[in-house]
Amino acid sequence: TQHAERQRVLDALRLSREQLLEVKRRMGEEINRGLAKESHDQATVKMLPTYVRSTPDGTEHGDFLALDLGGTNFRVLLVRVRGGKRRSVEMHNKIYAIPQEAMQGTGEELFDHIVHCIADFLEYMGMKGASLPLGFTFSFPCHQNKLDQGILLKWTKGFKATGCEGEDVVSLLKDAIHRREEFDLDVVAVVNDTVGTMMTCGYEDPLCEVGLIVGTGTNACYMEEMQNVELVEGDEGRMCVNMEWGAFGDHGELDDFSTEFDRAVDDCATNPGKQRYEKMISGMYLGEIVRNILLEFTAKGLLFRGKLSERLKTRGIFETKFLSQIESDRLALRQVRSILQHLGLTSSTCDDSILVKEVCSVVARRAAQLCGAGLAAVVDKIRQNRNLSELKITVGVDGTLYKLHPHFSSIMHETVRDLAPQCEVTFLQSEDGSGKGAALITAVYLAGGPH
Ligand code: BG6
Ligand code: GLC
Repeated sequence: TQHAERQRVLDALRLSREQLLEVKRRMGEEINRGLAKESHDQATVKMLPTYVRSTPDGTEHGDFLALDLGGTNFRVLLVRVRGGKRRSVEMHNKIYAIPQEAMQGTGEELFDHIVHCIADFLEYMGMKGASLPLGFTFSFPCHQNKLDQGILLKWTKGFKATGCEGEDVVSLLKDAIHRREEFDLDVVAVVNDTVGTMMTCGYEDPLCEVGLIVGTGTNACYMEEMQNVELVEGDEGRMCVNMEWGAFGDHGELDDFSTEFDRAVDDCATNPGKQRYEKMISGMYLGEIVRNILLEFTAKGLLFRGKLSERLKTRGIFETKFLSQIESDRLALRQVRSILQHLGLTSSTCDDSILVKEVCSVVARRAAQLCGAGLAAVVDKIRQNRNLSELKITVGVDGTLYKLHPHFSSIMHETVRDLAPQCEVTFLQSEDGSGKGAALITAVYLAGGPH
């Protein structure tokens, strides 16, 4: 029957508990591979040292600029941190668009645009000529030898400005500032968004030692024992490690769980073969997985009366917000249909709406469970590091998919609870983005704190 045929296709996207446990186990293996000097080069999960050695303690103080590049929005921020008994953080920020040309042109164009936005912001704040220390949230994989340097390993999430990979993004930014000859800035820290988020949440909750992003892309960071961070000298204390877990699966670790739809999405991306885990989880790709499934159903005559519209063949028509809307519990089927019509998929019946909603739900559930399995490996690793039978820990989280999707977060939490039963995990949503965290890191560094 048609029903059985549909379910057969969807079953490939339903993961069993055993499969999820296996994902957790393999993630644990990659974590160890990435941390160890001798195997680091072969690891997909790069476990990059960040030179951030502690979470905030409330004594941070000063005025800072922050940049936040790599998510849905590019932001320039002014962050005023007051430490001590009456600690407070005051933030002003402005959102700027990154035009497609800047994302995909030359690196010089991209960084000139960024500096143009900084100049506009300083003018807007009435601070022209001010020279404040700057924390740069740059949400891409960077190799760091120190806090104020970040060599871009590879672009992810559709960015592809030329001449940046292999370069230090601080130098690229400074060069652009000098080209403009208008102001100077002291770039103190390069910060991944996961790290910024962990620090932002750590300011409120000292138990926060993990940062998680589920937005355009997905990634995590956590406080690792220096002893295990073999890429950096020294055995004392801890260091935050940017996992770059989006690349998990790039050596085939997820091949037995992925489907023809995942392969189709991967083939058409700007970075085929790369970021395979990210492509099964994050907002930039889920809509494309859904679209590919709908294409298959239509081709088989199981949807849209078998009529393949040009619209359905168009890449990128399902944005992240579509997945969130269509799964909203308050939505009547009639409204699902009107969303489809709005997208130009006009020939839909009531049955079509039911099926589309089911596809979205299966794809989002798998994403949340895969993400939860990865996180379970992380918290269990921290627990084992500390030789504990029970670990209490907080995970700071940000990202549009996590925040806006009606079920993603609860499914993810449930999966972590199930797969890491010895960890009591609290999730703390960041309301302030990661720019605040970048400012806190900058403050610690300038105060001559632990580095
Ligand atoms: C924001 C952070 O709040 O979340 C960004 O400040 C980060 O740095 C972003 O990249 C992730 O979410 P999205 O959904 O915008 O990619
Ligand atoms: C991508 C980036 C990573 C970032 C994540 C979330 O995976 O490579 O650095 O943290 O997206 O924005």
